[in-house]
Amino acid sequence: MVVQFSWLFLLPFPQAAGATSPNRNITLAVVLPETNTSYPWAWSRVQPALQLALEKVEREGRLLRGYRLQLEFASSDCSEFTAPQHAVDLKLYHDPDVFFGPGCVYPAASVARFTTHWQLPLITAGAAAYGFDDKRDHYNSTVRTGPSATKLGELAHQLLLHFNWSSRAAVLYHDIKSDDRPHFFIIEGIFMALEKSYSSLQVLYKSYESEEDAIQFMKDNAR
Ligand SMILES: *[C@@H]1O[C@H](CO)[C@@H](O)[C@H](O)[C@H]1NC(C)=O
Ligand SMILES: *[C@@H]1O[C@H](CO)[C@@H](O)[C@H](O)[C@H]1NC(C)=O
Ligand SMILES: *[C@@H]1O[C@H](CO)[C@@H](O)[C@H](O)[C@H]1NC(C)=O
Ligand SMILES: *[C@@H]1O[C@H](CO)[C@@H](O)[C@H](O)[C@H]1NC(C)=O
Repeated sequence: MVVQFSWLFLLPFPQAAGATSPNRNITLAVVLPETNTSYPWAWSRVQPALQLALEKVEREGRLLRGYRLQLEFASSDCSEFTAPQHAVDLKLYHDPDVFFGPGCVYPAASVARFTTHWQLPLITAGAAAYGFDDKRDHYNSTVRTGPSATKLGELAHQLLLHFNWSSRAAVLYHDIKSDDRPHFFIIEGIFMALEKSYSSLQVLYKSYESEEDAIQFMKDNAR
């Protein structure tokens, strides 16, 4: 908890100071996939929510008195190449106070390492992977507002406890290596949670190619 609170103090949203230093800008940098709505955190989905929040802040002057909020957007394309490049450009040309996104795991990891270095918060509805749980260094300024693979892992752990399944478990997944490796990161969260659950529990994992492959694995290993 100490670690989490300590970075909260880095948040650039001042409380009382606002009244004494008017005309300051708070810049929100956004790095998200621009139009591809197959991502829940696509800009076309997130923009209305952010816009509503900004309007609320403007309408209710007491929230951030004396501050003007502005948005700067650059696409992440869900790309590990484009996202950090655009994040660096945003930092260079707009000196933002906070980042929103990326949501995809690999781009989020790259940009989060920068925001940690810049001591800026990175708020994302994505970045579900287990690795982002580590708040000791690289991801200590990353705030996830969405579901995480670790939480799903905790659910799986509770299921095992409930049924007293304490000797063997297997996770089976189809590893789509392109894009954001979605199944891999979800299963990783479950795997890691189960590994930690019982000392006696043996946890197997299997990445399958075809359905036959998956069924054969189940026949061989499950009851
Ligand atoms: C705030 O932003 C506006 C518009 O971009 C700019 O004209 C102004 O100089 C900025 N104020 C400060 C204090 O940076
Ligand atoms: C949107 O992203 C998905 C997942 O990466 C991809 O399969 C699809 O082709 C993309 N759509 C467009 C229009 O780029
Ligand atoms: C976050 O991690 C960076 C890099 O390891 C470190 O320099 C910084 O002190 C950490 N910040 C907090 C608040 O723990
Ligand atoms: C849970 O399973 C273990 C090992 O199979 C068994 O020894 C134990 O009695 C079980 N506990 C309950 C509450 O069923």
